Amino acid sequence: MIQSFSHKLISWYKSNKRDLPWRNTDDPYKIWISEIILQQTRVKFAIDYYNKFIEKFPNIESLSDAKEDDVLNSWQGLGYYSRARNIHHTSKILKEKYSSNFPNKYDEIITLKGIGKYTAGAILSFAFKKKFPVVDGNVFRFFSRLFFIEKFIDTTRGQNYFYNVAEDLICEKTPDLFNQAIIEYGAMVCKPKNPTCTTCIFNHQCEAYKKNKVFELPLKKNSVKTTDRFLIFILGTKNNIFLKKKKNGIWKGLYTPPIYEPKSKKELNNIKKNEELNIFNKNVKILKISDVIHHKLTHQNLSIKFCYSDLDLDNQNEFVKVKFKNFDHFPIPIVVEKFLKNFYDEEKK
Ligand code: ADE
Repeated sequence: MIQSFSHKLISWYKSNKRDLPWRNTDDPYKIWISEIILQQTRVKFAIDYYNKFIEKFPNIESLSDAKEDDVLNSWQGLGYYSRARNIHHTSKILKEKYSSNFPNKYDEIITLKGIGKYTAGAILSFAFKKKFPVVDGNVFRFFSRLFFIEKFIDTTRGQNYFYNVAEDLICEKTPDLFNQAIIEYGAMVCKPKNPTCTTCIFNHQCEAYKKNKVFELPLKKNSVKTTDRFLIFILGTKNNIFLKKKKNGIWKGLYTPPIYEPKSKKELNNIKKNEELNIFNKNVKILKISDVIHHKLTHQNLSIKFCYSDLDLDNQNEFVKVKFKNFDHFPIPIVVEKFLKNFYDEEKK
């Protein structure tokens, strides 16, 4: 199975691979630069950046002699500038310590700033033809589906599992081709959104395909999507607010005023002074309304308005009526606290 898997994969690669500039070299410097660029952007954009970078800094020496500003300039648009600074820093180490050569031992490569397990594996296999696996997002996806691996790809434990699978499969003779091929298969066939399962050469072996669960893999522990929410906190008059302890949701256990939740940004923006909102089956008139306040939580982007209204909940619906000046006796969300505090401080002036 192992023999036939790598054999089949590599022959697919030979006839289907894209002609990418970093695949026509075994210069470890060029491979290193390409892999760092590929961590920042997609292949389509990486090609141009790579070609320009290599033209300007063709080898370790030229990069180590460059001014930092020039290196950062070549990185312009890629973002995450610490990566460019690390490349520059590491090129100086390579010049001084390794006479402008790249070391070919894992233990040495891994000590270089900005080079982790993935990049070290790429340099060792692509440049030095050593048997080290490379496991990137493409490979996580391909392997998790093929073998139905329900491990989290964003945990060290899960990642180690995938590295072990890759180590078991990687071929002795051409580890470089094997690694390029699994990356390419994940990028070209076993794609995130539109995988071409019906024509995939591994579909009869693919456990996720057989189970009809291709789109459920790979698994991420922190895969909760960020959602946009729009909220209006309804306060009473300037003297009173109404607070109730939340039983669930993001503010579970805290006290909040009644919340009206518009369905869209447009609806939130359109709600103005003198309009009426229906709260607890009552029409409540808006006396004054704030501008939008943006508040980011881990998985929610909140757009919030506060309004003063003629609402009067006299200890109804489990709300407690609180004098404005006493709001800080209750644990309330930070965004509400900030708003009320600001308002209260203004009133005292
Ligand atoms: N993504 C990461 N490394 C890559 C490589 N060497 N070729 C194509 N895509 C990649």
